[in-house]
Amino acid sequence: MRRLEGKVALVTGSSGGIGQGIAIRLAAEGAKVVVNYRSNPQGAEETLAKIQAQGGECHKAEGYCDNEQGYSIGADLGMVEDVQRLVKESIEHFGQLDILVNNAGIEKHADFWEVTEKDFEAVMNVNFKGVFFACQAFVKHLLETKRVGRIVNISSVHEELPFPHFTAYCASKGAMKMMTRNLAVELGPYGITINNVAPGAIETPINTKLLNDPTKLKSLLQNIPLGRLGQPEDVAGLVAFLSSNDAAYVTGTTLFVDGGLLWNYQEQ
Ligand code: BGC
Repeated sequence: MRRLEGKVALVTGSSGGIGQGIAIRLAAEGAKVVVNYRSNPQGAEETLAKIQAQGGECHKAEGYCDNEQGYSIGADLGMVEDVQRLVKESIEHFGQLDILVNNAGIEKHADFWEVTEKDFEAVMNVNFKGVFFACQAFVKHLLETKRVGRIVNISSVHEELPFPHFTAYCASKGAMKMMTRNLAVELGPYGITINNVAPGAIETPINTKLLNDPTKLKSLLQNIPLGRLGQPEDVAGLVAFLSSNDAAYVTGTTLFVDGGLLWNYQEQ
């Protein structure tokens, strides 16, 4: 289904993992997509190449070409200036922005008493501060151009569920949850919807360590009622729905895509 024909989407952190899956899916639904990377321009090229392979007409990272469906911009979501530039350049490039997918995110494992200020800030800046200011820049554009728009935040089951050794990560996702509820109320009158997609354990580079540890992986899989890890495509389908008119009356909520992980408490 091509539900996003005529729309332009920005997907942060789309040089790999879930973000790459989302960028490809939104393009498949007809959207023009700005691919964003921080340290992996080759990954962004790969995303653009995959968009082209499914029918996008051009995949140049630099320069302009007619009918192009994908374009990539480097920016660090942990820096507000970069975030603002990213939104501005996206609008300049495709002339408009209709969909913002705040996907970029990081996590750092440590005992609570060992967490450094630097790591705390890195997590909060990318996962929350950057999202806050990306939404702000996007909303300003929508208000200035009198457009409606869609914001989809990639949160986590850990906006609800504790994750020991990842307290800053959980707090950043909890903050995202409250931001979404607030903005749904504040932006609703302008026709702007905002929702969270909360993935569980998805097979992507953020989970490399886990994927290489058979014992941990086995015990995780036992906690997932559907019995497998998720794939980026599982998340991307939900994002496409929330970005489309099918979700016109959905705002301020979190949809989980976790194979049942969140509610799976079983007494042994
Ligand atoms: C984290 C993963 C974790 C998953 C399930 C995600 O938010 O990024 O590291 O495996 O939640 O716990």
